[in-house]
Amino acid sequence: MTPDYDALRQQVLSLTHGETDTVALMATLACEIHQHHPLSDWTGFYRVVAPELLKIGPYQGGHGCLVIPFSRGVCGACACTGQVQNVPDVDAFPGHIACASSTRSELVLPVRNGRGDLLGVLDLDSDTPAAFTPADEAFFADLLAEVFRDAV
Ligand code: SME
Repeated sequence: MTPDYDALRQQVLSLTHGETDTVALMATLACEIHQHHPLSDWTGFYRVVAPELLKIGPYQGGHGCLVIPFSRGVCGACACTGQVQNVPDVDAFPGHIACASSTRSELVLPVRNGRGDLLGVLDLDSDTPAAFTPADEAFFADLLAEVFRDAV
């Protein structure tokens, strides 16, 4: 089960056209991605608020933990390495942070503006094992780069 990528991209670009405020962009993407991706049970952002520290940003779903150091969790691994983390089985990921006991798989991508500043990470959690595909990785990486290019 994959989202209608074209519809999601058009909706997001239409809603965010001309916007550069990072939190406004995050809030819009969390809402639209959550509504469009059938297997994302928690969709949200963690923001870089200090060196090596993430704090929760806009999200959809049950409560998320508020603070994540770069040294912990799937989100921390993404922020620390700058690499996409596609985790098909969270129980096999050392140091996974379980905000919900129902989470089985996770996809986390870095969020950068056009200057290359790391603004945060996008976190998608699913109650379905191996929910996220290489197509999801490629689509969200491109969408994030386009939407946050001019973010401040
Ligand atoms: N699972 C994430 C933590 C964020 S909550 O799932 C929303 C992690 O391991 O970094």
